[in-house]
Order: sequence, then C-alpha cells, then structure tokens
Amino acid sequence: MSTKPRVFVTRRIPEFGLKRVLEATDAEVWDEPLPPSRDVLLKKIAGCEGVLSLLTERVDAEFFDAAGPQLKVVSNYAVGFNNVDVPEATRRKVRIGNTPGVLTEATADLAFALLISAARRIVETVKYVQEKHWKTWEPLGHIGQDLCGKTIGIVGMGRIGYAMARKCHFGWDMRVLYHDTRQVEPADRDLQAQRVDIDTLLAESDFVSVHADLNPSTKGLFNRDAFRKMKRTAVFINTARGPHVIQKDLYDALKAGEIFAAGLDVTDPEPIAVDDPLLTLPNCVIVPHIASATVSSRNGMAEIAADNLLLGLKREPLRAWVNPESGN
Ligand code: DGY
Repeated sequence: MSTKPRVFVTRRIPEFGLKRVLEATDAEVWDEPLPPSRDVLLKKIAGCEGVLSLLTERVDAEFFDAAGPQLKVVSNYAVGFNNVDVPEATRRKVRIGNTPGVLTEATADLAFALLISAARRIVETVKYVQEKHWKTWEPLGHIGQDLCGKTIGIVGMGRIGYAMARKCHFGWDMRVLYHDTRQVEPADRDLQAQRVDIDTLLAESDFVSVHADLNPSTKGLFNRDAFRKMKRTAVFINTARGPHVIQKDLYDALKAGEIFAAGLDVTDPEPIAVDDPLLTLPNCVIVPHIASATVSSRNGMAEIAADNLLLGLKREPLRAWVNPESGN
C-alpha cells in the first residue's frame, strides 16, 4: 500500500505540473474529456488528502463531507474560485489555492481580441465570405466602430482589468474609466484612469469590459437597465464570469440595437445552451472560455496548482492561498 498522500486530480492538466503531482502523491487523474459527474466526483474524493480541481467542480459542504475530515487542500486550477465555498473550507480548515498572475496578459489579450472582433464585425464578415455572399467592395457595408481615442470602461480594476486598460490606453490611445470598490493608484497615475460610479461608466464608455470577481454585488449587474444606460454604439465584453450578465437582457439589447455588439468568453451556463438565442445574433461573438488558453498561461497555472497542492498536503502556506485564515 502506498504511503504517499491520496489525491484526486479532476482532469488532466499540463505535464508541467502534473508530473510533480504524480511523483509526490498517490494520485488518480480523471482522464476523460468531460468532467466526472457529481456522483462519481464525490466517490473519487472520498478519503483523499488533496484534490486538484477545476472551475467545473462545485466545492461545497457536500464535497467536503464526501471527501472526509482528512482533506487538507483543494488546489483550484484557475484564478477565479467562485466554484468554491471558501467560508465553508475555512471552517473545516481546508486550504484553498488558486493560480493568479500567470494568465493576466493572456486574458486581457483575449478581451481585446473580442473587443476588436465585435467592434469591427470580424466574425460576422468572415462568415459572410465563407458563405459566398461577397460580391463587391461595399462603400456602405460592414461598417463597424472605431477604437482609437475612444473610452474604455473597466469593471473591476484588478490585475486583468489593469492589463486590458493598459493595452487600450497605450495601444489605442483610449481614455480609461473604471468602476471598483477601491481606488487603484497605478491606474490613476500611469493610465490617467478615472474611478467613477457604475452609471457614469456605462453612460460614458464606448467599450465596457468586465473583469470583476463574481460575488453577490456583481451577479446580474449587467441587466436590462445597465444595457439601456450604455451608448447605442457601445460594445460589451465579458471575460470574467457568465453570471455577471442576465443573458436574456443582453440578447434583447443586442437584438433591439440598444448596444452595438458583445464579445463573450464566458456564459451562463457553460457551455451555453445550444438553443440560446444569443447564438443566432451576428453581433455577438462567443468563444468557449479560452482566455487562459495559451502555452505559458496553462503551464504556469499547472505549476502553481501543483505547488499549492503539494504545500497544502504538508500543511505549509500555499503559494497562492485564497484562505490563509484556514491554517497557521
Ligand atoms: C480562471 O482562471 O479563473 C479562468 O476563468 C480559467 O482559466
């Protein structure tokens, strides 16, 4: 029988981190393309000291009960941890790790890619060519929005929000507005950004890009009222979490021309329902939650997730520790 700690890895992650987990622990890796069902997950984690989880797993009281009291650490392979009930983990002294820093630029790049794609109607016009509708150069056709010198509104000026603002400001000469619970001095100083209330941001921004945590105050923030406060030429971007948006309200706003276009990396639910009306709109660009999908980001996430798991198994401080109050 192995004397190494038992862990469950809920999906294959890059070798960069997985190799070290396999060497140091008695690990079982879920090697299927789709996540384990809830029932299977709860069985697999029973008796484990550590779990390396993804954002597809709900880590809550039921999860902790199923794992048992020997569970020391849940290392989430994501910077976001809205899938984890952190107070419950802390109450049970289970360490929670996440993977900040390594996906900042990749996520901001994707936000910008969605912005330029939606503003300049890239996906819609690629389809137009592929479907053989291109007959001539059209002086009045396919008109999109300018980017240079416009105003970007950042909702949530954390690392990723700042990186997006920096690209927009220095690359496209944009004025930066932001809405955040706190003043972000480097943004004010280096990007001449202005912190404003949400209504001012919605009314004055040409582009609104969401980078906030998902919490009770941001859930559903982008609803019918919010879209109505935005410019009719506005482009809405979400690379944070799907539930920030009331999707039906976004559909109505896009369909009625209340805003110009949207670009989404995240939806609610994920994957988006195949009959979701958003999928019928030419002015909505949707990609399947790929913001961190670059070699260095995913390798970096794997490395931090492995470190967090292995440190947690030894009850040491995690490299990126969501709930330091869970340990000593
Ligand atoms: C995260 O890390 O939170 C992203 O959504 C997935 O990489």
